[in-house]
Amino acid sequence: MTRDIHSTATLNDGHQIPRLGLGTWRSKKKDCARAVSFALNNEYDLIDTAQIYNNESQVGKGWKESDRARDSFFLTTKIWNWNQGYRSARKSVEKSLKKLQTDDVDLLLIHWPNVRNFSRTAETWQAMIEMQKEGLARSIGVSNFTPSLLNELIEQSEVVPAVNQVEFHTFLYQKELAEFCRERGIVLEAYSPLARGEHLDDPTLLQIAQKHGKSTAQVMLAWVIQHDLVAIPKSVHEKRILENADIFFGLDEADMQLLDGLNRDERQLNPPWAPRSRKN
Ligand SMILES: NC(=O)c1ccc[n+]([C@@H]2O[C@H](COP(=O)([O-])OP(=O)(O)OC[C@H]3O[C@@H](n4cnc5c(N)ncnc54)[C@H](OP(=O)(O)O)[C@@H]3O)[C@@H](O)[C@H]2O)c1
Repeated sequence: MTRDIHSTATLNDGHQIPRLGLGTWRSKKKDCARAVSFALNNEYDLIDTAQIYNNESQVGKGWKESDRARDSFFLTTKIWNWNQGYRSARKSVEKSLKKLQTDDVDLLLIHWPNVRNFSRTAETWQAMIEMQKEGLARSIGVSNFTPSLLNELIEQSEVVPAVNQVEFHTFLYQKELAEFCRERGIVLEAYSPLARGEHLDDPTLLQIAQKHGKSTAQVMLAWVIQHDLVAIPKSVHEKRILENADIFFGLDEADMQLLDGLNRDERQLNPPWAPRSRKN
């Protein structure tokens, strides 16, 4: 199957999500608007932000300064932990929409499950279901959910999240989670798809990169896309934003096997429910 930067995956509510997007975590204020605007003017169709990134206003400024109309690209934000709960979730989303200078987002996510008090997360989900009906969010989903937390949410509401955004890269190949999401029609969106640049000098990555005349970052991203997932690499550098979009070159079966074998279950972020990763 030939894919390009405009390729999409179909969500369980019928909407489309682009396969590639720009992440903005830790994009500093002055860089963020410029990076968003540059990415949108260079064919990116998805921008990922979150309340806690403290840059929603910059994302709003960035897209407004770009050549793109709001309905021509996909925008995601996430409800932060302290905004969970029925009323506060809604209030926080109204604030986010103002900062983002938009009437709606394409995807609204619960940033983290509240594992100590899951009823708070279930209430948040209920508010999101209503916000979706009212048109404030076209699609709704979650982030950092395990299969059992997904099951718990689905049992309580019967609305299956459209997306689960989780850490996923060649050094954290979450195969079972990907399988679980696929079986239930949940699109897995890979965050930190470059493992935050920690292993770009890995010899296997270098070998495959050399074979295709690409960079190791491009190989890592192509691997995510070829697993039929969505990837949202972050950069504030124009050269890298372009490089990270030039990833539709096609890894072969042997490359994929070697890359699958790089897994070390190594997390860049340690969720409260996960065993501590080797790295941290
Ligand atoms: N839902 C969640 O809990 C969650 C958690 C983490 C991340 N996310 C989302 O996922 C996005 C991506 O994850 P991430 O930011 O953690 O990590 P990432 O995309 O894996 O890596 C970003 C790092 O790699 C560098 N980089 C980017 N492209 C490069 C290239 N071609 N060559 C070399 N270095 C490169 C960036 O630096 P420069 O910017 O200096 O280029 C930055 O330091 C986030 O920005 C955020 O939107 C979500």
